[in-house]
Amino acid sequence: MFGVLVATGLRPTSLQAQTPQDLIAREGVLQLAPANYPETQVWGYSGAVPGPTIRLPQGGRMTRRFVNELPQPGTIHWHGIRIDNAMDGVPGLTQDVVEPGETFLYDFVLPDAGTYWYHPHNRSYEQMARGLSGALIVEEADGGPEVDSDEVLLLDDWRLTEDAQIAGGFGNMHDWAHAGRIGNWITVNGTGDWRTTVQRHSRHRLRLVNTANARIFSLEAQGLEGWLIALDGMPLDAPQSLGRLTLAPAQRADIIVDVTASVGEEALLVNFERDGGYAIASFDVTAVARSERLDAPSPLPPNPVPQLGPLQTARTAKLLMEGGAMGRMDGAMMGGQMMGMREMAGAGKVWAFNGMADMPDAPLVAANRGETVRIDITNDTAWPHAMHLHGHHFRQIADDGTAGALRDTLLMDRGETAQIAFVADNPGDWLLHCHMLEHSAGGMMTWLRVV
Ligand code: C2O
Ligand code: CU
Repeated sequence: MFGVLVATGLRPTSLQAQTPQDLIAREGVLQLAPANYPETQVWGYSGAVPGPTIRLPQGGRMTRRFVNELPQPGTIHWHGIRIDNAMDGVPGLTQDVVEPGETFLYDFVLPDAGTYWYHPHNRSYEQMARGLSGALIVEEADGGPEVDSDEVLLLDDWRLTEDAQIAGGFGNMHDWAHAGRIGNWITVNGTGDWRTTVQRHSRHRLRLVNTANARIFSLEAQGLEGWLIALDGMPLDAPQSLGRLTLAPAQRADIIVDVTASVGEEALLVNFERDGGYAIASFDVTAVARSERLDAPSPLPPNPVPQLGPLQTARTAKLLMEGGAMGRMDGAMMGGQMMGMREMAGAGKVWAFNGMADMPDAPLVAANRGETVRIDITNDTAWPHAMHLHGHHFRQIADDGTAGALRDTLLMDRGETAQIAFVADNPGDWLLHCHMLEHSAGGMMTWLRVV
């Protein structure tokens, strides 16, 4: 049903001849909680929570008509895609909101293979908490590594009432000033009991996506051994042996695992919290696929991301993150005037970037196309944050100058400073914000311009 629309090399005329498929955002019901609970009223794309997985080839074109049948205006953001700016889905920056009953045609080229996802970018702290998000998988041109299965696992965290409905309180300033809206029910692909059957020594590619509003997952595989091969869609230079995996909101990890549990056992993906771990996905081992494990996988082919230029001459900017509960900030600029924390909270803001709680009129940095940009970020708050840059992937630069893996979302701990650098090769206006959705709505949002 979600087949390949256009293969690389097709002429544009044949593109226009096709009617794009619709992605319809609307209300629906789902058995989200265990069977002894009522169904939950959710918001989904095209009748599914999570929305349909879109799989397309690298270099291909993504064409979907967004149909908004929700009671609120919306947009779709294609997270992690180095996209044409006009298709980025940011209301007020790259497009107008799509009103209820209206449509918008998203149509863009997919430059990079990997695991990406889509979600609303208007009132996302509510719309995503109600269920809107889905996976966008861009297939490697060489068909990808040899595996017995390729599974997309969208991890989500829901706050449900006693009768399994989506709890209200989306504008709860206590959540906004603390860790964000943390839920009480965790699902994988819309179920609290995600399981599949596998065979001993079979090999699987698992594409993990954290679609939660604010929860950070801390994952370990049990009875599965393997490698981390990509982060936020981008291949690692070399597969790394799999250990504890931290997945902040919006982050993705592609892993390749071999089933090492025996027939009759259950392999697990376990999420760890302070008080211990619990399984979020189960793999029942029912047979033996082969007598030995396969050889270690080769790295995925790199994506065409430009190499960083020299950092000494890079265009630089500083970003100071402040505010929230237990922080040092007593106020920030809002609506052109200085406001105290209490007054700010009354107006829906609790955080600030460089002393500003509103989205600034001027970009944090304006770069020429092709320039290397470096941003020095200080998290002067008492909370972790998941900093996401639109339209580009960046590398974290360590104190000794070495560059880390390409990412689009960086988890920063309380009190941490980080330098990120990227080549500003994608023209347009691009958001830089915390992906804990209550934090971005509460003031953690700025933007960059590439001309
Ligand atoms: Cu996935 Cu601006 O976000
Ligand atoms: Cu945050």
